[in-house]
Amino acid sequence: MKLLSLLSAILVLLLSVVSLHFLHSNYWSNLRWSLSLQSSPVADLVVRNALIYTSDASLPFADSMAVSNGRILRVGNYSSVVQDLPGYGTKELNLEGKIVVPGFIDSHVHFINGGLQMAQVELRGINNRDEFVRRVQEAVKNKKQGSWVLGGGWNNDLWGGELPVASWIDDITPYNPVWLSRTDGHMGLANSMALKLAGITKYTEDPIGGTIMKTTSGEPNGLLIDSAMKLLLPWIPEVSVDERREALVRASNLALMRGVTTVVDFGRYVPGTSVQLSWDDFSDVYHWTDTSGKMMIRVCLFFPMETWSHLLDLISKTGRVVSQWIYLGGVKGFADGSLGSNSALFYEPYVDDPHNYGLLVTELESLFNMTMASDKSGLQVAIHAIGDKANDLILDVYESVGSTNGMRDRRFRIEHAQHLVPGSTARFGEQGIVASVQPDHLLDDADSAIKKLGVERAQKESYLFRSLLASNAQLAFGSDWPVADINPLGSIKAAMKRIPPGWESAWISSECLTLHDALNAYTISAARASFLDNDLGSLSPGKMADFVVLSTDSWDDFAAEGSASVEATFVGGLQAYP
Ligand SMILES: *[C@@H]1O[C@H](CO)[C@@H](O)[C@H](O)[C@H]1NC(C)=O
Ligand SMILES: *[C@@H]1O[C@H](CO)[C@@H](O)[C@H](O)[C@H]1NC(C)=O
Repeated sequence: MKLLSLLSAILVLLLSVVSLHFLHSNYWSNLRWSLSLQSSPVADLVVRNALIYTSDASLPFADSMAVSNGRILRVGNYSSVVQDLPGYGTKELNLEGKIVVPGFIDSHVHFINGGLQMAQVELRGINNRDEFVRRVQEAVKNKKQGSWVLGGGWNNDLWGGELPVASWIDDITPYNPVWLSRTDGHMGLANSMALKLAGITKYTEDPIGGTIMKTTSGEPNGLLIDSAMKLLLPWIPEVSVDERREALVRASNLALMRGVTTVVDFGRYVPGTSVQLSWDDFSDVYHWTDTSGKMMIRVCLFFPMETWSHLLDLISKTGRVVSQWIYLGGVKGFADGSLGSNSALFYEPYVDDPHNYGLLVTELESLFNMTMASDKSGLQVAIHAIGDKANDLILDVYESVGSTNGMRDRRFRIEHAQHLVPGSTARFGEQGIVASVQPDHLLDDADSAIKKLGVERAQKESYLFRSLLASNAQLAFGSDWPVADINPLGSIKAAMKRIPPGWESAWISSECLTLHDALNAYTISAARASFLDNDLGSLSPGKMADFVVLSTDSWDDFAAEGSASVEATFVGGLQAYP
């Protein structure tokens, strides 16, 4: 035994001496590389002199990190990280004390939608009617007669609440149908030409789960809520494959610029259906881009719950990890609508609409059946629920399905979990439910939540991040882009400060988070929430080397103010931005 190890030591020594002379010969460098894998591996990159926040509780901070083949080899202090590492070919990156965090995982986006919207009329952030009209006018100028003008992102709460109507824009859009969706995607404005094309008249009745808003004289005023949008959306020509592929590129570049290295995609508005991941987008856009070697960020995909058996077939062929870029997440369903459109389902009526409690957009029994079937076959289930009652109904469904199908690491998710009655936060922890929440929405919603729910109810029920964490719930942060901007550093600050625009102090200050909690919710906890934590979510040996360099070198300032900006983004150890 001793002799053997002595002999092999001599052999390694000899070979490394020999290899020094043949460094430029492929044969020898390959041999040297494979030998060194067994003793000390080669690092492609060593990051040093950084303030690395790892999101890994076993070693929260470090100053250096070595990367090999896209994955993290070692994390720690410089001497321990580089010890025994052959230096040949290793790039060193001295960060001069800057903060490094794991690549952000945005737990809820509509990615291709976002990319498409980047090329449409942008109405986000507009706070007056004139500007709204001006942007539409601008867009119409560049359009051929008859072609659709599409856009979105408007939020009437930013100009006092009055809803836009077709008559605002009819004069300036006589020859083009127009469709402008509200920022929450649960309502949109059509101009009169679009209503005419779709055959929506004063005689058209509200579909189940939707409303066609009408003027006092009974004419449709252009606003379509929830399922009423389905009367119009099929008339909008489907975007081409090329447009969707370009949208992915645009979206990826923006995400990387903001430090996002992984997104969990819940799909886009597909005309004739609701917001969901279309299987065409999977094959024509994601799979095509991946097999062409052009993916830039990692995506985890959630498919429409109705198609759970299709997803099961796909997973049996490819596995959950299709490639290092594409993870098959699970299935997604809908319980209710949104607060902004008065369609989120509550126990008590809306204060500004006293007969309205909101609506259930999917029959409960059918949600239950699909959850049961998906869970039984091992798929992860995510359901959209915003109102307090919708959340409780889904917690009940999850509890019942969980106890019927037996113990398993299933990580049921509730998307948004926005308003919760006292006691429901504890159920997330007890039942092991992921709360997939969006801090940016609390900034947009504060004023309207107070208007729609009343001060007290809004105060007790809204965006209970701290309470959810205290109940041991898995808290996963996301943006809901393009509903809100894709910008994790902004969201982290929103979750820490909770100060809506125009406010002086926090909305529900007892629910503010620390920097640590907020960072974890955008990294390791987000990874767990989608079963990605084997590969992603923390800077730990063996995981993908996805990380973000921030502009600041002061942890104390960052922890106090929550302010920082992205200086560079690395995916798999390679610089992807700038
Ligand atoms: C670096 O890590 C090594 C090994 O854990 C330890 O012995 C050494 O004291 C550390 N040095 C510093 C400066 O922390
Ligand atoms: C749900 O499943 C039950 C039992 O299989 C079935 O009887 C019922 O019709 C299903 N309901 C819906 C809405 O799919």
